Amino acid sequence: MLPVKTKKELLSHLKKLSPHGNLGLVPTMGALHQGHASLIKKAISENEHVVVTIFVNPTQFDNSEDLKKYPSTLSKDLELVNNIAPKITVFAPSIQEIYDDTVVSKTYDFHGLDKVMEGEFRDDHFNGVGTIVETLLRLIKPTKAYFGEKDFQQLRIIQKLTEIEKIPVEIVPCPIVREPHGLAMSSRNERLDAPLRLKASLIYSTLKTAKEKFGTESASSLREWVSEVFQSDNDFKLEYFDITDVETLTPIQRKQENIKYRAFIAVYAAEVRLIDNIALN
Ligand code: PAF
Repeated sequence: MLPVKTKKELLSHLKKLSPHGNLGLVPTMGALHQGHASLIKKAISENEHVVVTIFVNPTQFDNSEDLKKYPSTLSKDLELVNNIAPKITVFAPSIQEIYDDTVVSKTYDFHGLDKVMEGEFRDDHFNGVGTIVETLLRLIKPTKAYFGEKDFQQLRIIQKLTEIEKIPVEIVPCPIVREPHGLAMSSRNERLDAPLRLKASLIYSTLKTAKEKFGTESASSLREWVSEVFQSDNDFKLEYFDITDVETLTPIQRKQENIKYRAFIAVYAAEVRLIDNIALN
């Protein structure tokens, strides 16, 4: 399987596809794993044609070291896609093809969704995500686009992006896929050594216990408890633990009956930053 490299080539390829049936888009940054595979399989089950994009988007990295360390595994990625379905189109453009000579992001008003959690700790990250996702949606014009709930804040921001920019596409949320011991699948997991990878299941087990405690305990006592869990282990450094309204992502003040809440966490396991989240009610 050969990837399509240019926008021109991609558009001429899309033109040749039968005009009937939906077109599904799965945007990725490569280093594909079973989490991505589940998005691709869902897209295949709901669409006649599927495009997977592989593009490590520089404008969403606030830290150049993080960008440098991002794994690049194109031939393995193509093999994974090919094993799922050989007729999928893979678009893997260069930075120049997407940004020409000006590698900058647009500035969006995401109505505050970008000001908390990841947005607080990663400067301009969501403007970069918005820029590349808008570019891909406008270029490919999919009927549906698939995003994992592991990046739940990103998912909410992309839903907001399509609303404010009036882009006609259905954003399909896909459930988190986990390793056997519970760690949420992520390309970054490859950077953990085997014992730490196993130990990092502490992140999900803490979220599950927080969910149980949420029934009877206040959000502030939960925050304290989570911070103690990670303080007592030198392999981990907690960056944040927050409980927010799923719609607005505003941190919880006092629990309200009719609001759906989610808990979000970011933890460093040695040098590797991991995120996860869980629905609470
Ligand atoms: O979730 C990701 O892999 C990226 O943020 C995305 C949506 C492909 C945009 O670069």
